[in-house]
Amino acid sequence: MSRIALSTLLAASFGAACVGDAPTFTGDPTPDANTAELTPEEEVELQFNTEVAPLLTNFCSACHGPETTVPFMGPSAEEMYSSVKEWPNLVSLQAPSASSLITRGAHSGPAWQPDQLTVVRQWIEAEAELAPDQGPVLETTPFVPVEGANIIDLAEVGLTGATITFEMDALSTGMYIYRMSLNAADQGVHIVHPTFIPWEGDSPLPDPVDRFSNVDIYAGVQESTSVGGGTLILVGVDSTSPISVRFGVAEFSDQGNDVLEGCNAVAEFTANAQGPLSQACVSCHGGNNGGATAATDMTSINDLSPEGQAAACGQILSRVNLLDPNNSSIFLAAEPGSALGHPFKFNNNNANFEAYRAALITWITAEQAAAPQP
Ligand code: HEC
Ligand code: HEC
Repeated sequence: MSRIALSTLLAASFGAACVGDAPTFTGDPTPDANTAELTPEEEVELQFNTEVAPLLTNFCSACHGPETTVPFMGPSAEEMYSSVKEWPNLVSLQAPSASSLITRGAHSGPAWQPDQLTVVRQWIEAEAELAPDQGPVLETTPFVPVEGANIIDLAEVGLTGATITFEMDALSTGMYIYRMSLNAADQGVHIVHPTFIPWEGDSPLPDPVDRFSNVDIYAGVQESTSVGGGTLILVGVDSTSPISVRFGVAEFSDQGNDVLEGCNAVAEFTANAQGPLSQACVSCHGGNNGGATAATDMTSINDLSPEGQAAACGQILSRVNLLDPNNSSIFLAAEPGSALGHPFKFNNNNANFEAYRAALITWITAEQAAAPQP
């Protein structure tokens, strides 16, 4: 059977269900008789079109069909199959049970009934079996972070000896995760796009916090690198929720430390950020206060040579989350009234804090514009 016949079949079921009738198949009256001629790819497409598409059409198309706000069913019946497969996170071939088509549950729309869920799951599993081998899923086992220091052992994702370390403060409705770094042991490591996934019981929450989609970092032998600015706030999760971390890439690498980190907008850093940091922060972070300097190193801020400013800019960039600048620790630490305890908060003068933030944001905006696109 050809693709055209498949879509005719689908168009019939889509159209019929829209007016509330039982599907009438006008395309090929005897699909079963032809099954033997189908390629495996055509077979799963047929499985989708005959089993899953009618469910979506009946129960989901009012809000996910053409011209809705979340139109994952695509612009037309013919495109439903490709659209559902390509919509971000809807169908995960690497981890079928993490597909949001399965995990979404009751929302403004209904949850699947158990028998419907089985149909959807079986189709996604059939797709996953056909998918080219993408290697093992790079995800750590969920664990409950403690307040204070935490260590994630990356042996589980193949990086024996390497860890991600961070500190956690419980918030009333979430967790504040900070000083997050990637640490290599006897071999250098490379990670791309870590995703932090909170869990509720045995299920991952459907909307993982994806603040680090642009993270692509290396840590050299026995070295550490800040992960995407080091700070992450998980809101709307219980502070005792388990968390797992999934990686786009996690591999050994001899590329050395930090090769991709470094500023692209050093001139803007010097023009906008150097002065305010020098004035407000260097007294403690410039070396006089060991604890402060270890937490955030600003020893190069007042070195106005070109090399000095490039280094200073890099020191601060490692504390900036380029995807969500206001959630960078250089703001959260010093913001009057923020959840983070820190000895200096602009003497609780909001106007002075906002002036500092605006000056640094000018530099960060230039840094974002100059960053290579992921
Ligand atoms: C009455 C309207 C309505 C119906 C019916 C409905 N949904 Fe939804 N759905 C929404 C809205 C609104 C959103 C976006 C807001 C949200 O994520 O809750 C959404 C989002 C989703 C998402 C997340 C998509 C994304 O990219 O973030 C999935 C998955 C989903 N729905 C699955 C389904 C399934 C499966 C059905 C049918 C069983 C269904 N929905 C039926 C209203 C609906
Ligand atoms: C009075 C001294 C002092 C001043 C001034 C000061 N800090 Fe700190 N800062 C510290 C100390 C001490 C720590 C370490 C706290 C700890 O160990 O928990 C720290 C920690 C930090 C951290 C790390 C927190 C984290 O989440 O990892 C950041 C970021 C930071 N400071 C930023 C700043 C910025 C930005 C300024 C200027 C606007 C500033 N600090 C001014 C003393 C200071």
